[in-house]
Amino acid sequence: MPEADKEGQRYQADKPQQAPGFFLKGAHQLDWGMKNRLARTFNAQSGRTVMLAVDHGYFQGPTSGLERIDLSIVPLLPQCDALFCTRGILRSLIPADCAKPMVLRASGGPSILREELSDEQIAMDMDDAVRLNAAGVGIQVFIGGEHETRSIHNMTKLVDAGLRAGIPVMGVTAVGKNMVRDAQYFRLACRIIAELGAQYVKTYYVDKDFETVTASCPVPIVMAGGKKLPELDALTMAYNAVQQGAAGVDMGRNIFQSEAPKAMLAAVNAVVHQNMKPKDAFALFNDLKSNG
Ligand code: 5RP
Repeated sequence: MPEADKEGQRYQADKPQQAPGFFLKGAHQLDWGMKNRLARTFNAQSGRTVMLAVDHGYFQGPTSGLERIDLSIVPLLPQCDALFCTRGILRSLIPADCAKPMVLRASGGPSILREELSDEQIAMDMDDAVRLNAAGVGIQVFIGGEHETRSIHNMTKLVDAGLRAGIPVMGVTAVGKNMVRDAQYFRLACRIIAELGAQYVKTYYVDKDFETVTASCPVPIVMAGGKKLPELDALTMAYNAVQQGAAGVDMGRNIFQSEAPKAMLAAVNAVVHQNMKPKDAFALFNDLKSNG
């Protein structure tokens, strides 16, 4: 994969990027409406977010844990900082008196029945995001994928519309099945997404050099959860990600497919907002699970 130069000290991951006048990096020169929406999505005290991702139905249908969002997810809303969902679920199931910020899935196209998932289009007008009082919109970007250019254009169109409306765009690094998931790939993908205007990026954690991914991305990164792991492993991954510069998480299956989603969400909150160590957070999870 082409990269200008080699690994070294140049990422300076120990030196946080300055954001004078606003708590999120890369956001200090945005307009008020955009900042306000970001400040609702991210907690200003910790500078991080625990976003609950339940958008999976946009290509997977009623996946395990999301068969009844009214019963499984709505009760979790008080414990997350923001919800990542589709406009269909928002309108049909999320109570309109819910004060939580809603980040709406804005891309779609192929279902899991198709081999090539990168064949997406913009699937929501920014006007509708405004009508729904969205705190942000999210879109897949398939760097290295078959429809790479289209997915980038989808995102840049959405960014232009978002800038007009004051709605932040979360670019999601979507990795093809056979692609290598390492820091070099995620540095490339996250940086392209940020350079082309997304206000924050959702990406996967990698064990090696994740701090170079966050350091070289000029806007906040939220960690994607990925497939269901044992709870201690998922908490460890979230802990490592925030310690290595992520501005929180946008996790789905590792929360709603847990045997105790409420307890898991509380444990993730402790890791993200209080820097709780994974073993302590796991103990908290077990405690809440047995008492709840
Ligand atoms: C895939 C997505 C998903 O639709 C979803 O948000 C993933 O969440 P998780 O992997 O934590 O279950 O954005 O890139």
